[in-house]
Amino acid sequence: MPDIAFVKPALPRTGALVLPVPEGGLTGLAAEADRATDGALSRALEAAGFKGRKGQATTLWALGPFGRIVALGLGPADALTPEAVEAVGGTAITNLSQEREATVLADGLTGALAASLGMGAKLRAWRFDRYRTTEKEDDKPKLERLAIATTEATAAKQAFAPMSAVADGVFLTRDLVSEPPNVLHPIEFAERCRALEKLGVEVEVMGLKELRKLGFGAMIGVAMGSQHEPRMVVMQWKGAPKTKKAAQKPIAFIGKGVTFDTGGISIKPAGGMEDMKWDMAGAGTVVGLMAALAGRRAKCDVVGLVGIVENMPSGTAQRPGDVVTSYSGQTIEVINTDAEGRLVLADVIWYAQERFAPRCMIDLATLTGAIIIALGHEHAGLFSNDDELAARIQAAGAAVGEKAWRMPLGDAYDKQIKSDIADMKNVGGRPGGSITAAQFIQRFVDTRRGPMPWAHLDIAGTAWSSKDQPTIPKGATAYGVRMLDRLVAEMGEG
Ligand code: BES
Ligand code: MN
Ligand code: ZN
Repeated sequence: MPDIAFVKPALPRTGALVLPVPEGGLTGLAAEADRATDGALSRALEAAGFKGRKGQATTLWALGPFGRIVALGLGPADALTPEAVEAVGGTAITNLSQEREATVLADGLTGALAASLGMGAKLRAWRFDRYRTTEKEDDKPKLERLAIATTEATAAKQAFAPMSAVADGVFLTRDLVSEPPNVLHPIEFAERCRALEKLGVEVEVMGLKELRKLGFGAMIGVAMGSQHEPRMVVMQWKGAPKTKKAAQKPIAFIGKGVTFDTGGISIKPAGGMEDMKWDMAGAGTVVGLMAALAGRRAKCDVVGLVGIVENMPSGTAQRPGDVVTSYSGQTIEVINTDAEGRLVLADVIWYAQERFAPRCMIDLATLTGAIIIALGHEHAGLFSNDDELAARIQAAGAAVGEKAWRMPLGDAYDKQIKSDIADMKNVGGRPGGSITAAQFIQRFVDTRRGPMPWAHLDIAGTAWSSKDQPTIPKGATAYGVRMLDRLVAEMGEG
């Protein structure tokens, strides 16, 4: 990971140059660089057809004293957005992997936008290379330092500090989601959550014995087939100023953490089953979010709860037809052991409400293949019983490029999960598969003592990317960390 620094605006003497260029040509330091090359820079850009359009990228070699110049289009100068500038930071990283040092001439940007450029660069520079032992030196990224030259270095540094903490939270999520399932089983997952303690988060881990005692019948049923015991991890960040504490209950985040989903006895087909290592992305996102909030010392009380299990077929696995009693007391007929995520969430959500009486709760889960059919990989599915909470989530997501699309809930869908022998069954048939899954979860939202604003994000289509994106290398995206960090900032810290 390169060091990202904000420095005074001056042309560097060494290393590569990065030029974020708006439409309309070179100004400021970039114009100075042009003079240092006797105009060769602007002639080369012209010859390459580079006009500063958004997304344009051109590399020029050996002009004047500069070995490599990377010109990146910003689009119209009067319409710069943080998202576009982040993308430029990310694209810069992909073009600098063979350089040790580079300077971004960001004197045309405000301090805040220079920080966004740094954020984009940092987000894109993450790699998961723990298991590579034979990678050639030439192929390894070499960038050690990215200097961002800005006239507002102090403001940029100030804006970058909390962003950088959020990026670290994103990295924790991406690391967890990338880990192979033989390494990251439930016990190891819970162990990794302990890392949050050094950030000031209170971490409690509960094992099978405690979960049995509590009566987590739905979650334990899923874990029965595995050699690895289930875990629930409760993470508390108490950042609210003392005076506010009495008035404000915590915001609760709940994550599905299936470290591997074979489907259980209702086993999945072999093709692509390796993807089910990231069936813990909801939980991974909650852990990364807690790290982000603690890392930037968020002034809000937040609790994160994750249910961690492995869904395996074996002689001790639960069967289709089993009836389990959830922590809420409601009984569930398990028709399909592959609809396991909702069983985990049912118990953890109920526990979150019983123990913390949160002001609102948001769960995240790679819950259904059906949400990928509905929304592809562009939007997560958003389900909520509260229009205001839903709107806030969508707005927070839009601001950081994590899009969510509101999906319906309703009694007619709920009827699909009626059971002949228990309070409900765990699947509702193929029609509206993501909606009936959300209906199932809603049965564990407790509104007996008053309204409980709740939202469910089905991230099965957005947790993993099969292609590189400007600020997200292909693989684990950590979708939701930035969105929910922003939601907390707007809801809880104002
Ligand atoms: N983990 C899967 C959902 C999933 C699918 C996540 C593809 C990521 C990519 C979930 O546990 C599951 O198996 N859901 C079933 C539900 C069905 C049995 C009602 C599904 O979507 O097929
Ligand atoms: Mn499943
Ligand atoms: Zn699953």
